[in-house]
Amino acid sequence: QTALNPAILSLDWLLGTWKSDEHGEGCFPTINPFRYTETLHFSHEGQPVIHFMFNAFHAESKKPLHRECGFIRMQPETNKVMFIIAQNSGLVEIEEGELTEKQLNLKTHALARISFAKEPHVQQVSRVFQLRPDGRLEQTVSMTTDNQPLMTQHLHITYCRSS
Ligand code: HEM
Repeated sequence: QTALNPAILSLDWLLGTWKSDEHGEGCFPTINPFRYTETLHFSHEGQPVIHFMFNAFHAESKKPLHRECGFIRMQPETNKVMFIIAQNSGLVEIEEGELTEKQLNLKTHALARISFAKEPHVQQVSRVFQLRPDGRLEQTVSMTTDNQPLMTQHLHITYCRSS
């Protein structure tokens, strides 16, 4: 097994595969609430970088829905974390934030989308990852869009470690 680069040692609690235990809950003022499942993979190759893949599925139909992949880096000698993210919806994003103990607080630093991305367009994302005392991982995503300028929750889900 490749040794973890010291630059990302403080994110070691993320590494591995996580599967949603209870159904994730999706909402937003402009859409019907929905339930979903999601698998997360975080891995590394010895570089000061974590690679991730998030795959979400509709809870009832099991159809693939949302997918994201990207890279995580930390600014050396700080608790600053950045995510570089590509989403299957046609969005690319850089999120930046801070690591506090086992909690990551991120928000959009830069965002771009394909010319024919579905509307309304997301304007700003904020997300929190937290390792809970019971060993489960929790993710909460909020966003603003063209129609909803107030930061409002879109997703909440918890995961169990599966490897
Ligand atoms: C709707 C963004 C992750 C499922 C939407 C909308 C936006 C959006 C802008 C349209 C809202 C409106 O019509 O007012 C995002 C962003 C995500 C994300 C930025 C990640 C950071 C996910 C995930 C799922 C999901 C993980 C899981 C299955 C849905 C569904 C809808 C929706 C089912 C409603 C139907 C539709 O418009 O397709 N999302 N989303 N989203 N999102 Fe997400």
